[in-house]
Parts: sequence; structure tokens; C-alpha cells
Amino acid sequence: MTSVAVENGFPESPFRDQRFTVVDRWDQCANFADDDPRKVLEFMHRQMNEEMDATECSARAIVDFPDAPWEVRMFLARQCADEARHALIFARMFQARGGKLGDYPILNFQYRIICQIPTLIGRLAVQNRTFEAEGIDAIGYGIDEARAQGDDELAEFFDGQFADEIMHVRCANEFIHEMLAKEPRLAMKVAQALSFATKAFGQVVGGDGTAVAKYTISETGRREAGFRPEEIKVASQLAEDRRENALARKGG
Ligand SMILES: [Fe+2]
Ligand SMILES: [Fe+2]
Repeated sequence: MTSVAVENGFPESPFRDQRFTVVDRWDQCANFADDDPRKVLEFMHRQMNEEMDATECSARAIVDFPDAPWEVRMFLARQCADEARHALIFARMFQARGGKLGDYPILNFQYRIICQIPTLIGRLAVQNRTFEAEGIDAIGYGIDEARAQGDDELAEFFDGQFADEIMHVRCANEFIHEMLAKEPRLAMKVAQALSFATKAFGQVVGGDGTAVAKYTISETGRREAGFRPEEIKVASQLAEDRRENALARKGG
């Protein structure tokens, strides 16, 4: 099977030690049914690695854009600290519940997509303003779901993570608006980065929308993250369309 990496010329995966099996596509991960007790464990393991990817992407941005304004570099350094803390908490919860690191395959699509984007504004638009904004939606849903299942430990962690991720998206939104006000032509770079990421992400998930089938956007989270009302409306409509498509595919 040709790997997505070969097809796209993505950067190599970040280093993982021999305990971990790194795969290229969503369907190569362990995707358990909702009622499977391993589902929450696998989620923690996968999410731990996603948080590690986010740490590594922000670290790479500091290295790759040494001339970026100081506030942006400080923000990226703070983001590294937050994402590394999230990874550690997921690892701790996962192991406390009997998981062993490396039990499930991991994906490094975030790193491989984001680190291929040549501009800082493009990376902020994809990493923070898109992937992490979708993370806010997922966490907003996750808080309610964990509470409903009586998993207070996970719900409390999500609550703290929700606040961190909102800040990551909010700061990126502010930096992007400032950069565009100074240099409106950069809007083209944002558009290029977004269309590249959409296409690359589509290859990773293979057109399977089950991951977005259960929830829509967190309007409160997105408002606090600095999205404008018209942007929230568009994101909500897109999420609803994706959800309907995913449900139609599942039913058909
Ligand atoms: Fe995070
Ligand atoms: Fe984040």
C-alpha cells in the first residue's frame, strides 16, 4: 500500500520510539465501537499523541520562523508547554486505567501536514484556527459525554483543556487579523494553506466522516476563541452539512 507520505511528500513523522506503531491513515487506527470498553483508552492514547504532535508543531514553528514577532514566538513557546502538559495528563490517565504505551497505532498527520506549510500565518490558520478550533468543538462535546458516563476525572481534565485550547485559537485569531491588516496579500497564503490541509486531511481520513458525525460546533467556545458571528454561522453550517453527509453514508 502506498503511504500517504509518499503520495504527498509529507515531512517524515516526528520520532517515536520502538514501542509505537505509526500508521498513515485513520482506517489503520484501532477504531472501536462506542460501547467497547477499549474506546476511551484508545482515545486517550491517540489524543496523547495528538497533543505531542501539537507540541512538536509549535516547537517547529519557533525554529522555522526565527524572525517572527517576539509576542508570537512567546505565544508558541507557551503553547508548547500547554500541549506537552496535555500529552502528559493523557499518558497518566491512560496508564492509570491499565493502558500500556504503544498498545494502539498512532497517526502523526498533524505534524506532517502542518510542518509542510511554508508560511507562519498558514500554519496558524491550519493548526490553531482549524484543527484546534475543531478540537474545541470536540472537547465541548466530550465534557458532556464524560459527565453523562460518570467519568468525572476525564470531564474535569477536559474542562481545563477547553480553556487552554480556547486561548490557543484566540491568540492565533488575533495574530492572523494583525498580520492581514498589515499585509492583506497574506490572505492568499492562508487560502493556499487551508486548501492544502483540507486535501491532505481528506487523504488521511479517507473520506470517512464518522469522527464528526456525533456533534456540531461549540458556539460558546468559538465565540470565546475570537471567531466573529458570521464565521461561527459558516462553521456551524459546514459542520451540519458534514454531519448529514456522514449520517447519510452510514445509513446507505
Ligand atoms: Fe492541547
Ligand atoms: Fe492547543
